[in-house]
Amino acid sequence: MFNEKKILLGVSASVSIYKSCELIRQLRKEGFEVKVALTKEAQSFISPLLFESLSSNKVYTDVLEENTHIGISHIELAKWADAIAIVPATAHIIAKLAHGLADCPVSLVSLASDKPKIIAPAMNSKMYENIATQDNIALLKKRGFVFVEPTVGELACNSVGVGHIAEVEDIKEAIESLFFEKTLTGKTIITTASSTQEEIDPVRYISNHSSGKMGFAISQMAFNMGANSILISGPSNLKTPYGVKRINVKSAIEMLNAIEQQIQQYDKDNIYLIMAAAISDFKPKQPSNQKIKRQNKDTLILELEQNPDISKSIKEKYPYIKLIGFAAETNDLIENATVKIEKKGLEFIVLNDVSRKDIGFGSPNNEVTIIFRDGKIKHLPLMSKKEVAYNILKYI
Ligand SMILES: Cc1cc2nc3c(=O)[nH]c(=O)nc-3n(C[C@H](O)[C@H](O)[C@H](O)COP(=O)(O)O)c2cc1C
Repeated sequence: MFNEKKILLGVSASVSIYKSCELIRQLRKEGFEVKVALTKEAQSFISPLLFESLSSNKVYTDVLEENTHIGISHIELAKWADAIAIVPATAHIIAKLAHGLADCPVSLVSLASDKPKIIAPAMNSKMYENIATQDNIALLKKRGFVFVEPTVGELACNSVGVGHIAEVEDIKEAIESLFFEKTLTGKTIITTASSTQEEIDPVRYISNHSSGKMGFAISQMAFNMGANSILISGPSNLKTPYGVKRINVKSAIEMLNAIEQQIQQYDKDNIYLIMAAAISDFKPKQPSNQKIKRQNKDTLILELEQNPDISKSIKEKYPYIKLIGFAAETNDLIENATVKIEKKGLEFIVLNDVSRKDIGFGSPNNEVTIIFRDGKIKHLPLMSKKEVAYNILKYI
């Protein structure tokens, strides 16, 4: 998705510098080309040779030794980059950027560039909370720099506090988000994901194979495209996408309640619900309070009752909401999906053929068909779930 996009990674002398190595690897895996500029002090922490090897590009290390023949001059680099990411960013480099200094490769290229800039601060909490640093950050935010906020965590100085660099995956996702047009600004998109668990007894449940990857990808892409993105997820180990508000639930009833709570908080005219979760149609009628024992039973009969049809009941109670459904079918695909559009009042439905092993449940890829209210059909060929998410959200 990001082939031919170019990132200049500015690296400064923080103890978290090793995270920038992993970031290069992850960015290149997504298709980005990466070039690196190092502050002088950063070069005492890690040799430029390692960055050269990880990025497969020459590294910019000295403002006085520019080499235009190999594309290392601050002006050329500034023009080359589609975005600049400063990771990790010390208090010192943040101060220099805020005050327009240009005495090292990172500050010099940044000053010469009008491209989007993203900063991942990393420092001791006293340095981070210092009014000087906070004022510098506020100034840069005002000028449009995007900050991937540091977290509270264990710091290198054996203390715990704010200043711990954000997760590499989050920094990567924040960089990716720079490359999308913000066509969904002003909209709230609630996405449900993963499966639900319906308790049989305190240790057992009924569930299904849904991994949640599709719904997580949609919520991430909704944020990338500028929406207020809310993810309501059944149990899942997947990482919360950067910029997304996540609410965890277990059962279908909990999911229904969580959706209602969210809907009630947002503007009626601009709210969408994307039902990508695989919700159990049935649940045990009387879950046992105690673990069911084998004892002398040869068979066990579980009586199941229907869960509420979440899409249908939400649409009945909140008719203004724009609903997008997912259908996981194994047979009579188009017919079954078309019936659901009418029954549940959907804008459109995304149809998965879960009988195919190469797509759907757990796979990083998907091939789907979108069926619209007016009967139009759009087939999306096999692509990553991220790309599927983008193509679905284009219809919102
Ligand atoms: C081992 C070590 C770790 C450091 N870690 C940090 C850090 O995480 N954040 C920070 O702001 N400064 C840190 N510093 C201080 C910076 O390296 C120092 O302010 C330096 O001048 C920053 O230079 P630069 O911003 O040009 O790379 C550290 C210093 C040392 C010796």
